[in-house]
Amino acid sequence: MALCAAELPLVVIAELMGVPNADRYKIFEWSNRMLAADDPELSPAPDEGVVAAAEAYAYANELGKAKRGCPVDDIVSKLVVPDENGHELSELEFDLFFILLMVAGNETTRNAISGGMQALIDYPEQWERLRADPDRMARLAADEMVRWASPVMGFRRTATRDVELSGQLIRENDKVIMYYTAANFDEAVFENPHAFDIGRDPNPHVGFGGGGPHFCLGRHLAQLEIEIMYRTLARRVAQVVPTAAPRRLRSNFINGVKEMQVRLIPAD
Ligand code: HEM
Repeated sequence: MALCAAELPLVVIAELMGVPNADRYKIFEWSNRMLAADDPELSPAPDEGVVAAAEAYAYANELGKAKRGCPVDDIVSKLVVPDENGHELSELEFDLFFILLMVAGNETTRNAISGGMQALIDYPEQWERLRADPDRMARLAADEMVRWASPVMGFRRTATRDVELSGQLIRENDKVIMYYTAANFDEAVFENPHAFDIGRDPNPHVGFGGGGPHFCLGRHLAQLEIEIMYRTLARRVAQVVPTAAPRRLRSNFINGVKEMQVRLIPAD
């Protein structure tokens, strides 16, 4: 069986947004280039990410105009027509939100899926546990994969006032990086954090952020995609066999896998 899992989240988000089939590969490529500024393979020129963003921005603008003239049942159409109170996004707001959805909906979930696959290869007893009861375990496994893979390693905040946190003074206007990768393995929160445990419940990970106004908008979609992917695989596949070492993205933002080849041995 051959499968290119990396493209699935992109296909889902493109479908929801209403991006025509013929353009989906462009979106995949732009979002890859935008998040790979530190990876010489994907970004041979220093301004590769900026160029990709400019191309995506121009594309969003054209697509927005086309949908405004002919709205259908998709997210882009909803974003370009006024809501019931007559409020509408400015052109700039729409273009930026399009790019945010495109990148956030693609580069994260795919790495939770590949990180989860690597974990199931490294901990075969967890794969057997998933196979034994995919209907019950896939949902919990999806959350554990997001904790384990922590596809977004961190985000930055700017302190709006002086605050003391665990004995450390943070002054107003200080920049603070929140490392989700560290928080997701915190012994004070998780029992045995360095065990990949697909039955972990509760699982208070912060892979989607820690709540508040910027809490991941797509978390339910992402959890569902990962759950469906692994429920389906666990039902149909007996064994996952790696055929090459995964190639990792060089980045201090996305915990990414550029390529991961596996052979899926079908279940009888
Ligand atoms: C496993 C997959 C995903 C992970 C790990 C993830 C992670 C995150 C994180 C860490 C944040 C920042 C939270 C904060 O600053 O407090 C975020 C925000 C966001 N995510 Fe996700 N995300 C995932 C999937 C998605 C998907 C599928 C979509 C699109 C449908 C999406 C859309 C967004 C948006 C729009 C924001 C910004 C929200 C805001 O600033 O108001 N994410 N995500």
